[in-house]
Amino acid sequence: MKSYKELPDDAGSNIIGQVTAQANRLTERLASVRHTVAIMSGKGGVGKSAITANLATALTLAGCAVGVVDADINGPTIAKMMGVRDATLEYASTGVKPAISSLGTKIISMDLLLSEDAAPVLWNAHTQKDAFTWRSTMEVGALREFIGDTEWDELDYLLIDLPPGADRLPNVAELIPNLGGVVVVTIPSEVSHLIVKKSITMARDILDAPIIGVVENMAFYVCKHCGEHEPLFSAEDTPDNAFQLTTLAKIPFDPKLSHCNDSGTPYLNEYPDTRAGKAIIEVAQKIQDFFKT
Ligand SMILES: Nc1ncnc2c1ncn2[C@@H]1O[C@H](COP(=O)(O)OP(=O)(O)OP(=O)(O)O)[C@@H](O)[C@H]1O
Ligand SMILES: [Mg+2]
Repeated sequence: MKSYKELPDDAGSNIIGQVTAQANRLTERLASVRHTVAIMSGKGGVGKSAITANLATALTLAGCAVGVVDADINGPTIAKMMGVRDATLEYASTGVKPAISSLGTKIISMDLLLSEDAAPVLWNAHTQKDAFTWRSTMEVGALREFIGDTEWDELDYLLIDLPPGADRLPNVAELIPNLGGVVVVTIPSEVSHLIVKKSITMARDILDAPIIGVVENMAFYVCKHCGEHEPLFSAEDTPDNAFQLTTLAKIPFDPKLSHCNDSGTPYLNEYPDTRAGKAIIEVAQKIQDFFKT
């Protein structure tokens, strides 16, 4: 299949012109953003969105101006986790104003554009087969529009919550000219390590993206009766050894964190001194240190 760049005649839609205009708008928007950080894993369900939402809160509480892009177009969860699902987006001739969390974090997500809970994202095409073929291209286009049309204003950090899949970082790296850093999320299972390794190879060896480090999520849980740390998974390999990257923190499973994500309340506001709370704050601090050096 030819890419849009190779189309000799695009039936008058000037697709290259449209894409170039969008890309220029995105570059202009990001001029006022100091650091962009992608949160990726490759593996699904390991806590990328939970960590993005809580890192955004930690950085906001540390006094930074923070924005979050929910780059999961088909399965967006950031708006719910950050308590802004009911927000109405304001449109102006200059762009869209992002939703703002109770603590002041700016958020843009496909979820804010869907009218009903159960509404799926469907790509328009003559047949569903064509829609599948174009999905990746459409996703990149939607993200380019999302990031470029949002009035972020001055931000210290723009966090990008990626969907699962090793091909997601290349899509974002193509869009964002100076991606500042990547935080990799895993859980301590061999199955997760297997997939995460592929994403790291993609990020480090193929894209040459700056990797800040690895977060081991759901590393253990703390027994509420005896306070002992119990493992949830059974990987024999440590992330240090499996990935040869800095481990930023080990975040335990905390049912209160899951509850806060479900109810859209900021976990770190209520539980900053828990094991998970301290670990998330440690990751936020290390991200800030990464950009200072
Ligand atoms: N450390 C934790 N303690 C308790 N619950 C957690 C923790 N990390 C994540 N969760 C919960 O686990 C579930 C899966 O997390 P999340 O949706 O963030 O994963 P994900 O990697 O973004 O998934 P996807 O690949 O579908 O985007 C969510 O309900 C989330 O609230
Ligand atoms: Mg997610």
